[in-house]
Amino acid sequence: MLLRKAPDVRYSEITPRELYLRRREFLQGAAGVAVGAAAALSPLGVARAGAQAQGRAKLPNVKKSPLSTAGEKINSYEDITGYNNFYEFGTDKDDPARNAQKFVTRPWTINVEGLVKTPGPIDIDSFIKPHALEERVYRMRCVEAWSMVIPWVGIPLGDVIKRLAPLPTAKYVEFFTLNDSKQMPGLRVPVLDWPYREGLRMDEAMHPLSILAVGLYGEVLPNQNGAPIRLVVPWKYGFKGIKSIVRIRFTDKQPRTSWDLSNPREYGFYANVNPSVDHPRWSQGSERRLGEFFRRKTLMFNGYGDQVASLYTGLDLRRNY
Ligand code: MTE
Repeated sequence: MLLRKAPDVRYSEITPRELYLRRREFLQGAAGVAVGAAAALSPLGVARAGAQAQGRAKLPNVKKSPLSTAGEKINSYEDITGYNNFYEFGTDKDDPARNAQKFVTRPWTINVEGLVKTPGPIDIDSFIKPHALEERVYRMRCVEAWSMVIPWVGIPLGDVIKRLAPLPTAKYVEFFTLNDSKQMPGLRVPVLDWPYREGLRMDEAMHPLSILAVGLYGEVLPNQNGAPIRLVVPWKYGFKGIKSIVRIRFTDKQPRTSWDLSNPREYGFYANVNPSVDHPRWSQGSERRLGEFFRRKTLMFNGYGDQVASLYTGLDLRRNY
């Protein structure tokens, strides 16, 4: 996606999804592929097959959160789980649903490191257990200028951080994805600086809108969406939402991130959704919501400005992109 020059941006990325799907199915049908097989090859089919292979499980005791975004149509399960960026499983939008089906997410350990009271490994289930699960419906805006509305299930990152008790000297928190080339075929291709890494300033991480997601649509998080646990920060471009987290490190230095390491001219640390600062190769002024035909205007901080703008008072957002 982000490494290609504008003329190479894929058809699937600039075409309304329905047209793209119909075109693919048409091409597959025209090539004489049986209808069932054609459906199984389309992203929709891949999402369905993936859900069956992984098994879908409901999460118990999920409470609806007042911090959810109201009044927007939620994208379909198939859109959310069949159109993904998870480069460890391939760079096409339907690669993660296909290639992450057998990804093993238990047992799973998160290592807590750096400027923190008690560093060390924590099993995922004891990591999540002390926290109540909340449903958070958020607008999500990808830097590639498409968007979705997703009903995440998660726990507030701020509550997790309070429990982990970072030292007063910690100014940032860094996250790392699993780096296992046996399970993640995309790691053999050096498209990014692996392992995938992301970071937040401590006040951003403590903001009530920042969550660690463990599910969506009331069910366990599908592998292609970052199982068993991933970051969700709705006022930032989607690439901040690091998936399948295995390390959390507290630090006093602004962390480098995979995208900024791969292309510092195009990707900065903050990655706040900002329609007035274009990506060097395309506009960020509008976006295509999956499932809609007409483009819509992109909102400052993805529409969460009332809640988060004060985090950036005095910061030049043109320089700190
Ligand atoms: N996390 C990892 N580990 N690897 C990735 O390639 N892609 C990012 C982000 N998290 C990515 C990742 C990008 S570019 C986006 S837009 C979101 O995941 C997509 O999340 P979704 O597939 O759940 O919609």
